[in-house]
Amino acid sequence: MSKYNFDKIINRFKTDSIRWDHYDSSVIPLWVADMDFESPPCVLKAMKDRVDHGIFGYTHAPKDFKKSIADYVRKHYDWEVDPDWIVIIPSVVSALYSIGISCAKSTSHIITPQPIYHHLRLAAAESGRNFNEAQLETINNRQILSPKGLNEAVNNYYHQNSELLYFCNPHNPGGTVYKINELTKVVDFCNKNDLFICSDEIHAGMVLDDHKHIPIASISEEAANRTITLMSLNKTFNFPGAGLGWMICKNNNLRQLASHKIGTLIPYPEIFGYVATDAAIKDGEEWRLALLDYLTQNRKLLIEKINQIPGLRLYDIEASYLGWISCENLPVKNPHQLFIDYGVALQPGYMFNQSDHVRINIATPYSLLKEALDRMEKAVKSI
Ligand SMILES: Cc1ncc(COP(=O)(O)O)c(C=O)c1O
Repeated sequence: MSKYNFDKIINRFKTDSIRWDHYDSSVIPLWVADMDFESPPCVLKAMKDRVDHGIFGYTHAPKDFKKSIADYVRKHYDWEVDPDWIVIIPSVVSALYSIGISCAKSTSHIITPQPIYHHLRLAAAESGRNFNEAQLETINNRQILSPKGLNEAVNNYYHQNSELLYFCNPHNPGGTVYKINELTKVVDFCNKNDLFICSDEIHAGMVLDDHKHIPIASISEEAANRTITLMSLNKTFNFPGAGLGWMICKNNNLRQLASHKIGTLIPYPEIFGYVATDAAIKDGEEWRLALLDYLTQNRKLLIEKINQIPGLRLYDIEASYLGWISCENLPVKNPHQLFIDYGVALQPGYMFNQSDHVRINIATPYSLLKEALDRMEKAVKSI
């Protein structure tokens, strides 16, 4: 029995939660990617202590913050990073958008995997650059960015001047954790086509089972020189509303380009982002491991239940809490609406350009997840 109580149901209605205050209380909202668990006690205490001080002036990072991040990255991902390669950012999303504009020339193309967390696609689409989508390949129930999808994205569209690849590992939606040989193929492709990589690794802290998160930049000198890695503890320790992340980029020129607007158009993080991240790095590990156990238990329930519902298919979840469910075999046009009608709000597949899929957030107390899955079963039986 864990000393942390992830079973506790905390009422999030009327807290201005994007996820909970969008629907009425008859709907279980399992869409936006935050968790229904309290942040670790160390984070809560650090935040409370900071509030008690009572003055919230302009604030810089805590002493040796970049060194703590470098130590964290070495400990968790076996990656030796110089603190000077690190740039602190207020959110991963804002960096995704600014990198599209700052690191790719206006005449070049950007490649984004498909399906992908919508902000990676929108960052490319709204950069003013052209972009091609590289279709993920499904191999053994895992969706991965493979040479097939990458080559098609470059060759089929006659876009030889691609300059930047957006990459996501662990992947959202679904939670694929890339293996070393899969990462090597992506890097080989980028070397051959001279592409920079912007690698969103925000879900790295929630890798399940024996999977291992390998930052793509860590696999070779060439990879390090062409990659900007984006990381954050927002997701893992559940304080995305307090927001803070970091970029890691070894290549000095690329880092200068990527951090161009930080501190000006993109603000530095606010006080609580620093406080929460610092506390999570120093004292959050025991809670993180307990969280992984809980997510593993919820994933087991999800797999069992989805396998019993005809017409639904779940891709393997190797990390995080965002299950990707194929509804291709359901005889309905809008599966998202079907489930809402039965009281469960999932993330609609059209946000990932795939409207015959839905994404489920399982980072909620077990009893609530069970109730939601029962409702989904009823919804499908009603067809
Ligand atoms: C892959 C991915 N990147 C970025 C974000 C959001 O990052 P941030 O809150 O730091 O802007 C999310 C949130 O769901 C995500 O899944």
